Amino acid sequence: MKNLDKDVEKVLIDAVKIQERVCEMGAQITKDYEGRELVLVGVLKGAMPFLCDLMRAIDLPLTIDTMVVSSYGNDTVSSGSIHIRKDLDKEIQGKNVLVVEDIIDTGITLSLLVPLLKKRGAASVELAVCLNKKERREKNVSVKYVGFDVPDEFIVGYGCDYAEKYRNLPAVCTLKSKVYTRT
Ligand code: IMP
Ligand code: MG
Repeated sequence: MKNLDKDVEKVLIDAVKIQERVCEMGAQITKDYEGRELVLVGVLKGAMPFLCDLMRAIDLPLTIDTMVVSSYGNDTVSSGSIHIRKDLDKEIQGKNVLVVEDIIDTGITLSLLVPLLKKRGAASVELAVCLNKKERREKNVSVKYVGFDVPDEFIVGYGCDYAEKYRNLPAVCTLKSKVYTRT
């Protein structure tokens, strides 16, 4: 990508590797959920590319739904709270929910979202996360499907943004420092 590549410092995971891994994850999910009612819940906006690729790699009759949430973590408070800006369209009572996220960092967002969905009577709630920044974890969250472990660096691409931009980069990258200092 001629224009966006100018801002990229390093490609951590290229588009081909992402597609290969997403196909493997889809095959595993297909095996694990066979015969069960599966709902993929994409957490917008970051999960968009991963959700689109993952759902096409799952060979099951599934449905999709989406949420927009923001979490307010605080270093001095162990919990944090979650604000639902867009809720699910359909009830999930009795369904097997697989939450699809671009990246897990501190784990605060997902540690709050999972119990909330369980409380609504889902038969199961599991997580599929494309990128795992495990060094940064503050909350013990069990992630059933992980695409890649990534280092503790700020990442963009494949759904991850900096100031809402770079989500459309097909690879997972870091940005040149000049991008952050631009005014
Ligand atoms: P957590 O609650 O700390 O796990 O943060 C999860 C959310 O923070 C992700 O869904 C992303 O939206 C955002 N995030 C965390 N790390 C990065 C990053 O390196 N680049 C872009 N967004 C990030
Ligand atoms: Mg996100």
